[in-house]
Amino acid sequence: MSKQNQSCMAEFILLGFSNFPELHEKIFGVFLVIYLVTLMGNAIIIAVIFLDHSLHIPMYLFLQNLSVVEVSFSAAIMPEMLVVLSTKKTTISFVGCFAQMYFILLFGGAECFLLGAMAYDRFAAICHPLTYPTIMNKSVLVKLVIFSWASGVMVATVQTTWVFSFPFCGPSEINHLFCETPPVLELVCADTFLFEIYAFTGTILIVMVPFLLILLSYIRILFAILKMPSRTGRQKAFSTCVSHLTSVTLFYGTANMTYLQPKASYSPETKKLMSLAYTLLTPLLNPLIYSLRNNEMKRALMKLWLRKVVLHTD
Ligand SMILES: *[C@@H]1O[C@H](CO)[C@@H](O)[C@H](O)[C@H]1NC(C)=O
Repeated sequence: MSKQNQSCMAEFILLGFSNFPELHEKIFGVFLVIYLVTLMGNAIIIAVIFLDHSLHIPMYLFLQNLSVVEVSFSAAIMPEMLVVLSTKKTTISFVGCFAQMYFILLFGGAECFLLGAMAYDRFAAICHPLTYPTIMNKSVLVKLVIFSWASGVMVATVQTTWVFSFPFCGPSEINHLFCETPPVLELVCADTFLFEIYAFTGTILIVMVPFLLILLSYIRILFAILKMPSRTGRQKAFSTCVSHLTSVTLFYGTANMTYLQPKASYSPETKKLMSLAYTLLTPLLNPLIYSLRNNEMKRALMKLWLRKVVLHTD
């Protein structure tokens, strides 16, 4: 009987904000704008760093990789979410749901480690300026980047295949905006205890460890800044640090709350809002925080604009 049900379920239904259907139109508009701005902001960063050779240093190569991760992360979530918000009842195929979960975990995991590596890079540059070139040489840089991407692939492969090896015997309604682990796990009709233990330890390793690394780096950076002689220099470095910390805390905080206990008893609406914090806000805000407040980036953008648009040269 249950086996028959299982083979019948070829798709899921994503409910979106089903309790507030009248809001769907407005939310759709807001999310579309956020998606487009995210794509544009990150595309500009990728292009500017690619074209300006003076920016081919670790900090910006990390940033470029982060922008690639964020564009991909958004592309794995937003188009589907926009479809869910613009139709009454959205079905997503089994394979589509699998793929979405896979890419969310891949790019989400890579983002966790990249943000950690970036904080370490800043820590080395600010607190150990003399030995920085040897600490962060080309080979270390490439290894950190490869490690971040490879961890994302590993996390995604293990978690997604595990979740989808469970039996699903209906109902097929996912009360969420897209396919991610916690809401899909609720539809499983088997004992998921072992998986939940794995998810807990995995989240600590993937989310908590980089987060603590970042916190530690920034605390050291803050102390270094407080010892700076110039007041304006201190203020500037401080404000940069604070904006990094805000974005990082938002991303890791909400991701932690969601993934540490995938079957936690928050209401579905709370879960949706928490997911939006790390799927929508982080990719939108990071380009602003990491580049628009950065003079080198602004100068490179200006130079490029002058060269291409005003002078029509290469
Ligand atoms: C990412 O990092 C690697 C390693 O430093 C670098 O070679 C590459 O240009 C960066 N950017 C992208 C878009 O991959």
